[in-house]
Amino acid sequence: KHYKVGYLIGSLAKESINRKLAGALIKLAPENLDFTEISFAELPLYSYDYDADYPPVARAFKDAIKAVDALLFVTPEYNRSIPGGLKNAIDWASRPYGTNSFTHKPSAVIGTSPGAIGTAVAQQSLRSVLGFCNSPQMNAPEAYIQFTPGLIDEQGGVTVESTEGFLRNYMSEFHDHIARVLSVLPNDA
Ligand code: FNR
Repeated sequence: KHYKVGYLIGSLAKESINRKLAGALIKLAPENLDFTEISFAELPLYSYDYDADYPPVARAFKDAIKAVDALLFVTPEYNRSIPGGLKNAIDWASRPYGTNSFTHKPSAVIGTSPGAIGTAVAQQSLRSVLGFCNSPQMNAPEAYIQFTPGLIDEQGGVTVESTEGFLRNYMSEFHDHIARVLSVLPNDA
């Protein structure tokens, strides 16, 4: 079965290594997953003052999440947590109260960093947020990718065979996770 996956890249940087990782993951994914990027770059800083009348950019963001079967978070670690922009976007989507966009929406988290910890601490933080937002997350496999120079080539290919196999399996497991979640929690539940 085909599933629509919306992916969020935690970094706004033009040369983001997490954007490169996202590109590689899409290439390695099973062909029955279709990907669309869900951008949050244009969102203002959230305040509940907006709840009475969400601006069009925030409505569009929530609609984009609604339109997909699952979410993939590809995020860097900034100061041992997720970047502020990503947290801001999640706060927008979680509100107004009673319209949380993450309810029953399957998700997975992954990220890369030049350091050996490979975004593990940021991912743990993101898992806590997504848990509160009631998104059924893929527990395993976890993926903490240390970004060594040349790991991903210009065409988005992974140059280390063991890493390529690991990431292919990660995406295959993500497909199975989506299928399992949607079998008990259909999109309109
Ligand atoms: C970092 N970096 C970083 N790396 C890490 O492994 N743990 C950390 O806590 C941090 N903290 C941090 C804070 C800030 C503000 C910046 C700008 C960077 C380094 C980071 O992993 C590196 O810049 C990556 O290139 C970030 O990924 P993107 O943005 O290129 O996808």
